[in-house]
Amino acid sequence: MNFDKVARVWDDELRIERSKIIAKEIKLNLLGKENSVAMEFGAGTGLISFNLCNEFGNITLIDNSEEMIKVVREKVKDIDVNNIKSCCYDLTENSLDEHYDVIYSSMALHHIVDINKITSKFYNMLNSQGRLCIVDLNEEYGSFHKNEVEFDGHNGFSQKWMKEMLEANGFTKIKSYTFYNGKKGIEDNAIEYSLFIMIADKE
Ligand SMILES: C[S@@+](CC[C@H](N)C(=O)[O-])C[C@H]1O[C@@H](n2cnc3c(N)ncnc32)[C@H](O)[C@@H]1O
Repeated sequence: MNFDKVARVWDDELRIERSKIIAKEIKLNLLGKENSVAMEFGAGTGLISFNLCNEFGNITLIDNSEEMIKVVREKVKDIDVNNIKSCCYDLTENSLDEHYDVIYSSMALHHIVDINKITSKFYNMLNSQGRLCIVDLNEEYGSFHKNEVEFDGHNGFSQKWMKEMLEANGFTKIKSYTFYNGKKGIEDNAIEYSLFIMIADKE
């Protein structure tokens, strides 16, 4: 998907409603991390983070789509929120010398080819006692992106695989569960999918 092209129409009713549920689930897993410094990777238009801005001291929203980040900046101005920063950046290509207490990501990792590499960057960018929180698609058989011919990401993830990959990158106290069942598309053509949340700590 060309995220620049869809940025202006990204915030539809379904995504707005889903983002509230996702943000609530992330919040449930943030005990002890209140008022800390956070980063959202692949933030899009900020749907998730604008629901979480009262939970953190500040949040940096990173996305490599300029148009998505433009929408974020307009929202920051419109609603006059003062603890959200944004950054148009491709973390898969480069590194950032920044550190956070919490890194979270929603529906972005399945677009990243080398998950191991980005996970190792997340680990290095977390402060000690930091927490990683990933929300993404449970493994499926390609139906979620079936209309996107250029899609070269992952057809969701097995939670077992992701847990092992996080462990191999040094994370501990890993837990995950499925919390959302949704439908994409309309009526007879709608496809069913589910989302998991995975939480992992850096000691
Ligand atoms: C499916 S959207 C999810 C957006 C948002 N998290 C949400 O839940 O509404 C995936 C986002 O990841 C971003 N993305 C994909 N590859 C990226 C990369 N290498 N670096 C930063 N952001 C990336 C896209 O631009 C897009 O905004």
